[in-house]
Amino acid sequence: MCGITATVGADDVVSALLTGLENLEYRGYDSAGVALANGAGVEVVKREGRGDDLVDRLSTASLSGRVGLGHTRWSTHGPPTDANAHPHTDCTGELAVVHNGIVENHAELRERLRGAGHRFTSDTDTEVVPHLVEEYLAAGGDVETAFRRAVADLSGSYAVALVHADEDAVYATREGSPLVFGVDDGAGTPDAAYYLASDVPAFLEFTDDVVYLEDGDVIRVAPAGYEITGTDGTPVDRPVESVDWSPDDVEKGTYDHYMRKEIDEQPTAVAQAVRGRVDGGAVSFDSLTAGIFNDVARVQFVACGTSYHAALYGAQLLRERGVPARVFLASEYAVNAPPADEQTLLVGVTQSGETADTLAALRSGQSDGIRTLAVTNVVGSTAARECDDAVFIRAGPEIGVAATKTFSSQVATLSLLAERLCRDVRDSRGDDASELLAALDTIPSKIGSVLADSSAAELADRYGDSDAYFFIGRATAHSVALEGALKLKEISYEHAEGFPAGELKHGPLALVTPTTPVSAVATGRHTEKLVGSIEEVSARGAPVIAVAPRSETAVAEAADDVLWVPDSHPELVGLLANVQLQLLSYHTATLLDRPVDKPRNLAKSVTVE
Ligand code: AGP
Ligand code: GLU
Repeated sequence: MCGITATVGADDVVSALLTGLENLEYRGYDSAGVALANGAGVEVVKREGRGDDLVDRLSTASLSGRVGLGHTRWSTHGPPTDANAHPHTDCTGELAVVHNGIVENHAELRERLRGAGHRFTSDTDTEVVPHLVEEYLAAGGDVETAFRRAVADLSGSYAVALVHADEDAVYATREGSPLVFGVDDGAGTPDAAYYLASDVPAFLEFTDDVVYLEDGDVIRVAPAGYEITGTDGTPVDRPVESVDWSPDDVEKGTYDHYMRKEIDEQPTAVAQAVRGRVDGGAVSFDSLTAGIFNDVARVQFVACGTSYHAALYGAQLLRERGVPARVFLASEYAVNAPPADEQTLLVGVTQSGETADTLAALRSGQSDGIRTLAVTNVVGSTAARECDDAVFIRAGPEIGVAATKTFSSQVATLSLLAERLCRDVRDSRGDDASELLAALDTIPSKIGSVLADSSAAELADRYGDSDAYFFIGRATAHSVALEGALKLKEISYEHAEGFPAGELKHGPLALVTPTTPVSAVATGRHTEKLVGSIEEVSARGAPVIAVAPRSETAVAEAADDVLWVPDSHPELVGLLANVQLQLLSYHTATLLDRPVDKPRNLAKSVTVE
């Protein structure tokens, strides 16, 4: 977990690295560092804390160099300290390495290297890498050979980049962790500049021409050009692709927080998810042509966190249409997969496409011969590349650690997928989805109305000092209740839980008091039952906030406060209600002065299991 950057040939290498680190901070942020190679040696500046602390230190250091590495860390081995921050160097100080991931066999390698006389200065798994390269260099051979030999000794997941004092070049490789390459001004031209990074936003200010590196690729980048080779050293051809994200997409603009900006981007995000995919009442979905799922009899979803809630929502839509669908937490599926066969479609829902738990679940399915489909936001992501098929949710980059617009885009995309699947999957009813599809078209403008007229800030103020917050709902509204609670706990650090409304009386009701507001999510279905649940909690003195469409008057009357949403198809109302709950969480967190975009202990993309 972390962000890697590397720059070759930029006019101001330090500032290009810092821009990259700033843009990658969403991946992890407990420490940061840079290393520059300038022909005379390798200079490293690194420190514990956020990127700002590094900038302070760099302002007093006079670093120069034509090639450089940068790293923003989210520790897996060793606490966040100056010594554990990356880049890490060898005993000679002539080479420096940054790493994203985990070297699983680090203990054994460390022991071997210690035995050979190497001195370690950090607790990280990463530090074995520079010492291994040093060892192989001492045994004879050039930097590239030593780098390849060192990497061949590693097991685990890694993206690694290295600079050496003797060369104006960066070497890098990946295995199970993301690494992308950006080309500015055309490869091989005198003005060319090159960027390596864990994710495209790192260098979007400089270029939108990207090469997605594959596991096992080794890249050498020098001012005169670059070469990509496979593990055996033979050249491999990777296309340069243009991404259509603009730098503005990853900047906060006038907003205080990315999260708030991303909440407001939802009308566009959902419109993009749907655009061009509905044709005459049927879904035409990227490469998923009609009949492609004829062999599928059931669907299993794997996902984590917010994506898990979106998957729960999507599975409901499938079951409504007669398609057997179940949802599993990816971390559980990976260790205890349920029975599946060649008629099972395993769908990984993952915004980043890099979540290790989800990738592990998908891989475990693949190893059993199960067909896989990735539903993701990131085109070159590992999930997209490894699965048999991929569908993109088209939400644009999401920087806030708390997922917002990607949930909406996932649900919109899964609604389309539900339609595509229910037509193909045998024994499903193949219900006409034209009503749902027509309603989906109106969701962007309805989200716009919620954003324009929400009393969430007022309610956050009213209930801001409560003991705990509960969220209830049935069917799709249950997924929304779970997501509402996750959002609130993530960014406000308040205790929050989501429950199926009917389950309250089987235990959670014991927690309900006058200081635990309960948000009840209504969709236009199961109204009487939801009113019954509201009465149960009201009788215990808990204030109830209904999140309800305008026509749900009975729910509104039973509640103390209402967050209204426009009427819509009952299967899509949850999308609108979720926006209200996002706003409620956001305002609660800002009132408590929390670091909304970077909650403690969390990172945007969790690339370790
Ligand atoms: C969402 O707010 C969380 N930060 C987190 O639960 C996230 O949804 C989860 O880690 C899954 O990420 P993914 O969609 O990139 O796989
Ligand atoms: N495992 C390495 C460490 O703990 C890298 C972690 C990361 O990906 O940031 O330093």
